[in-house]
Amino acid sequence: MPSRPNRVLEEIAVNPLRAGLPEEGITSPCSAVFFGASGDLFKRMLLPAVYSMHLRGILPTAFALVGFARTPYDDAAFREYCRKQLDLFMPPDKKPQGPLWEDFAKRISYVTADFTDTRHFLALKDRLAQNDAEFGTAGNHLFYLATPPPVFPEIIKRLKEAGLDKDANGWTRIVVEKPFGTDLDSARKLQQAIEAVFPENEIYRIDHYLGKEPVQDIIALRFANTIFEPIWNRNYVQNIQITSAESLGVEERGGYYDSAGALRDMIQNHVINLLALVAMEAPISSHADDIRNEKYKVLSAIRPPPYADVWSLSARGQYGPGTIDGGAVIGYRQEHDVAPDSNTETFAAVKLFVESWRWAGVPFYLRSGKRLPRKVSEIAVTFKPIPHRFYGEATDRIEPNVLVIKIEPDEGVSMRFEAKVPGPKEHIRSVFMDFSYGTGFGVVSPPAYERLIGDAIQGDQTLFTRWDAVERAWEIVTPILEVWQHTKDFTFPNYAAGSQGPQSAQHLFPDWRRL
Ligand code: BG6
Repeated sequence: MPSRPNRVLEEIAVNPLRAGLPEEGITSPCSAVFFGASGDLFKRMLLPAVYSMHLRGILPTAFALVGFARTPYDDAAFREYCRKQLDLFMPPDKKPQGPLWEDFAKRISYVTADFTDTRHFLALKDRLAQNDAEFGTAGNHLFYLATPPPVFPEIIKRLKEAGLDKDANGWTRIVVEKPFGTDLDSARKLQQAIEAVFPENEIYRIDHYLGKEPVQDIIALRFANTIFEPIWNRNYVQNIQITSAESLGVEERGGYYDSAGALRDMIQNHVINLLALVAMEAPISSHADDIRNEKYKVLSAIRPPPYADVWSLSARGQYGPGTIDGGAVIGYRQEHDVAPDSNTETFAAVKLFVESWRWAGVPFYLRSGKRLPRKVSEIAVTFKPIPHRFYGEATDRIEPNVLVIKIEPDEGVSMRFEAKVPGPKEHIRSVFMDFSYGTGFGVVSPPAYERLIGDAIQGDQTLFTRWDAVERAWEIVTPILEVWQHTKDFTFPNYAAGSQGPQSAQHLFPDWRRL
């Protein structure tokens, strides 16, 4: 087998800021099968992630990629399709060309498939056996479900019928894209279909937020430092705000989004996962299940809002026409594939309480929305005001300390604290202490999908959501989903694109950080 370049090691050699960073794991041999390989997610995210891993030298030497989808291609045509997509979606210095691309391309194959026909899964089985013989992929199979979710149960059933659910010689793992169900009931049904074929330790439920570096750093910030944990509780924390805002609208996904909405699309999964990481207790080890036990424990301490209190504990919005980055944009109801009288929210805000010794009485405010002024994902921990004031001019505002974990766009951590303004007067003003990943480590964080695909190939489930946590997250949002769904909002659209969101969100919580 040709050996691959290890770019990480090369980089460490020339970049002293990277000294001490561990070499990334070399993953075990395998064939990765992408169901839905002619779709959007594959070409925009998954294929570029795998190719980038190849360029960085962190794919197994014995690796093969199989596309499995409806669009008819033969191997050569699919390789050419992949090359074109990489040309579009990879940065200029990573375009598919030369020997590195050729080495990758020869490992790509394709099975044209009807997902309801077991014969096509038998053809896939032959292909995988061929890969084992040709590339040494050792009977290890990663099945990645990147099709529309309604097809998941069918694929799983056919995998079993074709005897692909296990391999006598190697491992089998299944990666399941979000959304995991569209409500509690459908999530449970999907889980039943999967667990009838695969045990939990072979199921990898993806939430790509968990693959983002600053999200992984939440645990390190909290538990690899002494100074934060003693104040990380109801005695010192006033509230916690978790925001995931986007300036983009629904783009080409109006059809999907109009049946989902912001609560299902973002809060139930990404935002609640962030909450779990920021609020959980220290795990007893960094083992996947020790971390996932703590995540589940804290989620189980969150009280789903009582039905009668949904309106006082949540706010929803839908964007109308407005301005983003100086350009006019259309309203949600004018988007392609969206109902002209749609009742779907493009903004959701929720107030939750974690009923535990640590967090009793501390509100957690969660918000997410589209067509807000800018893209920002962050967690802001606001501490309690000082107990007694003896310093500063009477007119000075003494602000509470705020620790912000910045996930996007500037990955890092920032602390707001009060300082004396230089000069003879006793003026006080807020200042900031900032850490940024880019300057701190001198590297650009790898995209989330690279990390997650690598972990799935290595068999590390830490960054994948376990079923109990998915189910609990659905339980938490269910009362809000149901009340919203059954009540038409006649104020929609109730925020202009490019604004801070609906007024109702300000009523829920007047101190949101400005976007
Ligand atoms: C996806 C949602 O899970 O996350 C999209 O379906 C959303 O609607 C996207 O745009 C946001 O991800 P990121 O990584 O850009 O914050």
